[in-house]
Amino acid sequence: MIDLRTDTVTQPTAAMLAAMQQATQGDDSRDGDPTVMRLEALSAERTGKEAGLYMPSGTMTNLVAVLAHTSRAGEVLLERGAHMLNTELGGLSAVAGVYYKAIPGTRGAMDEDLLREAVRPMTRNNFGTALICMETTHNGAGGSVLPLAHMQRVHALARERGIAVHTDGARLFNAATALGVPAAEIARHTDSVCFCVSKGLSAPVGSVLCGTRDFIERARAFRRMVGGNMRQAGSIAAAGIVALETMVDRLKDDHAAAKRLAAGFHAIDASLTDPAGVETNIVRANVGASGRSAAQWAEDFRARGIAVSPADTRSLRFVTHRHIGDAEVDAAIAAFAEIWKSSVR
Ligand SMILES: Cc1ncc(COP(=O)(O)O)c(C=O)c1O
Repeated sequence: MIDLRTDTVTQPTAAMLAAMQQATQGDDSRDGDPTVMRLEALSAERTGKEAGLYMPSGTMTNLVAVLAHTSRAGEVLLERGAHMLNTELGGLSAVAGVYYKAIPGTRGAMDEDLLREAVRPMTRNNFGTALICMETTHNGAGGSVLPLAHMQRVHALARERGIAVHTDGARLFNAATALGVPAAEIARHTDSVCFCVSKGLSAPVGSVLCGTRDFIERARAFRRMVGGNMRQAGSIAAAGIVALETMVDRLKDDHAAAKRLAAGFHAIDASLTDPAGVETNIVRANVGASGRSAAQWAEDFRARGIAVSPADTRSLRFVTHRHIGDAEVDAAIAAFAEIWKSSVR
């Protein structure tokens, strides 16, 4: 099966498995585990922040960031298609106890005028805006990368109003690769940032939240509250270290594969996708013109040994990763052409 559903299907590398076998097994929650601490320090260094905190998932790092920034009161502003809003099961409100306003955006970037209008001060009857969140790369917008100038302006607005900014950087290193800058250049425009080692970076488990030392200490308590203390986490953290040290430079290959995939789809029919809009490792193809649903398309792909995800009723989502090379890209394009030909008459 060629698996193009997501980049979380990546397998650990031989170097990761070796590092996992040799890792320490201290109690991260009690005295601290040396390998976890090394991953957290490396993450802080790569994002230009003071400290890092390792957790089991991106969903948890986002949730804990919201808890630590807001202390369970106030409004969170974030882009309408944000993963935190649409895919994390309402944890913002159901667990972190905050309410939110969704700001319309373009390619994942909030409309700055609407954002400015939405910021509310604390009054007698209102907690006011407690946090602004950004997401880069933006999953729902097809892996788009927030322009640094946009992030800088959002951060400046937040500072002007005394509001914190958190950035969901589940694929932060994809964004950095696309922009051709170190991840810290992105993270300087946000107070906290999280990234996953479990996606294109190929480690089996985890996400790291980074920010100031004080913020991370507060986050540590909230991580415990939501059950995120992992105890003997050295072996999984070890794979995360190898991910940061060896997997970042190859993300450009995933981006090139996504571009090739999009160009192939575009050549079948120009309405399917715009290769110019593919910035990282996600390609969306709108198959609505075929008259068949994205779910039906996914079934047809599966029958040809290719797994893809419907992004919505009319669009398919293809995600490239370490196990997708030229042969897999060519097979996906050929399958697409075949299904398209049999659907469109
Ligand atoms: C942008 C974004 N944020 C957060 C997450 C959540 O990560 P996890 O699946 O590790 O909880 C994802 C997962 O795909 C994501 O794409």
